[in-house]
Amino acid sequence: MVGKLVAGNWKMNGLKADGVALARDIALRYAEADPDFAMLLCPPATLLDAVGAAIDGSGVLLGGQDCHAQDKGAHTGNVSAPMLADLGCSHVIVGHSERRQDHGEIDLAVSAKAEAAHRAGLTAIICIGETLKEREAGRALNVCSRQLAGSVPRTATADNTVIAYEPVWAIGTGLTPSTADVAEVHRHIRAELSRRLSGADAVPLLYGGSVKPGNAVELMSVPNVDGALVGGASLNAEDFWAIAQGCGDG
Ligand code: PGA
Repeated sequence: MVGKLVAGNWKMNGLKADGVALARDIALRYAEADPDFAMLLCPPATLLDAVGAAIDGSGVLLGGQDCHAQDKGAHTGNVSAPMLADLGCSHVIVGHSERRQDHGEIDLAVSAKAEAAHRAGLTAIICIGETLKEREAGRALNVCSRQLAGSVPRTATADNTVIAYEPVWAIGTGLTPSTADVAEVHRHIRAELSRRLSGADAVPLLYGGSVKPGNAVELMSVPNVDGALVGGASLNAEDFWAIAQGCGDG
């Protein structure tokens, strides 16, 4: 792994003018800094083309927030992995908890999407994480094991797969697990992956859920945390950049 990966998930936010301005701001900082971390922007599908143009040549990477399991066909409203690749994406997020919740996506569907991403030459960022109820019941590790077993396809390698641990209760809430809890889950994920694929040590493991400038350095210093998946704070260039610099310190 070369440096940490800091990824911004814009979710359903951004119109053309503000999205392009935000992307340009980030791209300029990145290009000038010659940083030791990788940076990825995942804007909504409507902005991929414009954001791709705005970051062109800066070294900042482009990613989608979801893809369909099929490469093409009669699937109204969906976007396929080859379409994302065609727009210059290198990554795609699959199985985000908001998709699991809002769209009833189960592990099998997430695995098929990750496989579609791999077929298209994209790196799949596969999201997993427990709900508050599951954590309180002491089942966080079990849930992560189950989601890994179901959501990571056979096509996964250290080169085309990133795992994002995002406890559902930490997303958009301002709450974060203790560093000891993050360390425990990430160690567990690493061990589970080693049983599933060769080179598991090289699979980047991101932490996501209320990553902010004030907690980034601490979270990024946890063993087996190889970067961050950032939602809300990635919509502000200053905050996102501050988080990224926290990633660079590790
Ligand atoms: P948040 O979202 O940073 O706003 O908590 C993280 C995510 O959902 O990826």
